[in-house]
Amino acid sequence: MRHVSGPQGSRVVLDGRPVLLLCSNNYLGLADHPRVREAAADAAMRWGAGAGASRLVSGTMTIHRRLEEALATFKGTESSVLFGSGYLANLGVVGALARLGGAGGPSGSVVFSDELNHASIIDGCRLARAETFVYDHCDVEHLAWGLRHKLGPPNHRAGVIVTDSVFSMDGDVAPLEEIVELAHRHGVRTVVDEAHGTGCLGPGGRGAVADAGLEGHVDVVVGTLGKALGAYGAFAACSAEMRDYLTNSARSLIFSTALPPPAVAAALAALEVLQEHPEMVDRLQANADAIRDELAREGFEVAGSSTQIVPLVVGDADLAMRVCETAIEGGVFAQAIRPPTVPDGTSRLRLALMATHTREELRAAARTLGRAALQAGFRPGAGVPVAAAQPAGHPEERVVAPLAGEDTAAAAA
Ligand SMILES: Cc1ncc(COP(=O)(O)O)c(C=O)c1O
Repeated sequence: MRHVSGPQGSRVVLDGRPVLLLCSNNYLGLADHPRVREAAADAAMRWGAGAGASRLVSGTMTIHRRLEEALATFKGTESSVLFGSGYLANLGVVGALARLGGAGGPSGSVVFSDELNHASIIDGCRLARAETFVYDHCDVEHLAWGLRHKLGPPNHRAGVIVTDSVFSMDGDVAPLEEIVELAHRHGVRTVVDEAHGTGCLGPGGRGAVADAGLEGHVDVVVGTLGKALGAYGAFAACSAEMRDYLTNSARSLIFSTALPPPAVAAALAALEVLQEHPEMVDRLQANADAIRDELAREGFEVAGSSTQIVPLVVGDADLAMRVCETAIEGGVFAQAIRPPTVPDGTSRLRLALMATHTREELRAAARTLGRAALQAGFRPGAGVPVAAAQPAGHPEERVVAPLAGEDTAAAAA
């Protein structure tokens, strides 16, 4: 692991060298915002450093309830419930919904999961021990094929479709309208992981679900507090009935200590800042557009991304590392991501934009990355297109790899 001195601002000192930080999920710069820091410090003084136990054991605290209400309002849902992290939220939610059988009974559920979903969703599928149908990335025809073949006659088996909204390694957005439409048609539930959508997309940063006009049409929206909201933790936004079900069935919530009050208060303050300054979201997206333009001018292929996550696909893992190291020497830190986090042959530099980057910084960064690529022996634009490197599964069935196997589709960010 590399060593960063100071907070996760847009510029950091990395192993003693000042660099532009281009790979942090602190998208809005809220992790070190003065109001967010103060809220965390005040909460530590008022409620203490830790929550003491699971909320089901030692009781829930005022600050947790307050954040849950604020998040539900923000996401346009009746209710929400906090989890210890996004990883724990997906583990708990996928497992709980897979057990929410229906006519087929608990063991009869099928989970439908995008092949590039985050590792926490993949692990949720594994732990749920439900049958899992992995559909080709964003391929609604393959998903429809799976729904038709796996569910059987109407009301025979229950199902749940799970997808990231913004894919963490590719920066593309799931076809949410089609997915929700298919879910309604087949009578299955939906879970959308807005880890990288919350605070980044949609009106006021309410996410990709809101952007698609689907508020109230997704059974569970998972969001994280450790990325655009600058704190730590996660939540599931849903109906009050679903919240009660999750509270009593999601094992990662029941059997884990509640979020520490300073993290909860920090997220609450960050949410307030975001709601007072929705222009931060516009700035983030404008920065993403700007760096894509600059990178395209350098010859990089960046058309696959439409969000604040911009991958520069290099292909070979060692080559990606060399480009990364050379860019750091030039003052730009964009971490190389390799298998098993991304599929074989698609190693990349994963760029994550921040609203606090300036245009000049981004212009200079694109030039540095272009030079670093050439110095390291990679011609920008020569990377394997992501889609070409993925296994062709359509219309065959693929299943989630066993626990001991490699996470070919897992994502660490
Ligand atoms: C899509 C997605 N879901 C969930 C997570 C996990 O969130 P957390 O870091 O809060 O555990 C991440 C990031 O790591 C992610 O990229």
